Amino acid sequence: MGKILATGGTGYIGSHTVIELIKKGYEVEILDNLFNSKIEVLDKIEKITGVKPKFHEVDMLDAENVEKVFAEGNFDTVIHFAGLKAVGESVEKPLEYYKTNIDGTLNILNSMKNNGVKKIIFSSSATIYGDPGQPQCVETLETGRELTNPYGKTKYMIEEILKDAAFADKELSVTLLRYFNPVGNHESGLIGEDPNGIPNNLMPIIMKVYKKEIPELSVFGDDYDTRDGSCIRDYIHVVDLANGHILAMEKMQPGVSIYNLGTGNGTTVFEMIKAFENASGEKLPYKIAPRRAGDLPVLTANAEKAEKELGWRATHTVEDAMRDTINFLRNA
Ligand code: WQD
Repeated sequence: MGKILATGGTGYIGSHTVIELIKKGYEVEILDNLFNSKIEVLDKIEKITGVKPKFHEVDMLDAENVEKVFAEGNFDTVIHFAGLKAVGESVEKPLEYYKTNIDGTLNILNSMKNNGVKKIIFSSSATIYGDPGQPQCVETLETGRELTNPYGKTKYMIEEILKDAAFADKELSVTLLRYFNPVGNHESGLIGEDPNGIPNNLMPIIMKVYKKEIPELSVFGDDYDTRDGSCIRDYIHVVDLANGHILAMEKMQPGVSIYNLGTGNGTTVFEMIKAFENASGEKLPYKIAPRRAGDLPVLTANAEKAEKELGWRATHTVEDAMRDTINFLRNA
């Protein structure tokens, strides 16, 4: 069983995946610059798993040090989580997003090439479907059309870069995992989503409202053509997402494999509020606000391919995610 390098492994999705990898007996090292995560995550991983993964505090834009990590690591597989991910910020700072996400990935790919590492799993996003013109996304849909922000474009561009790399090197195995809306955290409540700065995703905002750091949640639109007027998304528990990486890794083969990681089910914003209130036992203050530009009424995953080919299926519910979130909030 070869060694794994997790770029961005101290981040939200990365750290949860590292935990599941360690639990299954894999050896993992982490490369992260701690731009949007904290070094304490390593102790928490150790507390949960009994193992403290080897950590490299390296910026993936620092090609020289990335190369050093690879030269010493003898890795079998890279799981590439690292990148900037705030949609709104990416509109304000496009060059930073292109530089970090694209150049960073190129540095990782170059070092993989220099050191004979032939497998890479990439954290892609449902955002690359743009406006798919239908509520459910299947992997065969065209991607890259009508992308509304540089963040989403970098995810699309990196998918294309990886496809070209796999075309040129027939020994390369590339797996693109298209995440839907990750929520929840490890059941211990020791780790969870803890973004620096003002969050723009629904769950981290709900968490800040609960902690009274934000006075109320703005529900972006209650007049969509959905069952209660608010938008529908496919919220996937991060531990399910983490396990998807492991099953995908165990089935890697040369060429490009693409999987949606979502539940296949949709939840409205109002249903999310209700589920959070049920878990916390408290009312969550909210107001109705105008629609947010670029939001689609409904976006869910067709997750049949991952089920059929990987034997992967989400087993946690939104209720589980809310219970774990409350646990994290009360622990932190
Ligand atoms: C979910 C729902 C909002 C905040 C985005 C990116 C995507 C991916 C995940 C990330 C929507 C509503 C939200 C709020 C609200 N990448 N909402 N009030 O838009 O599905 O996807 O995040 O890193 O690329 O586009 O997720 O969490 O922003 O929103 O009513 O204050 O919650 O309108 O319906 P989204 P989200």
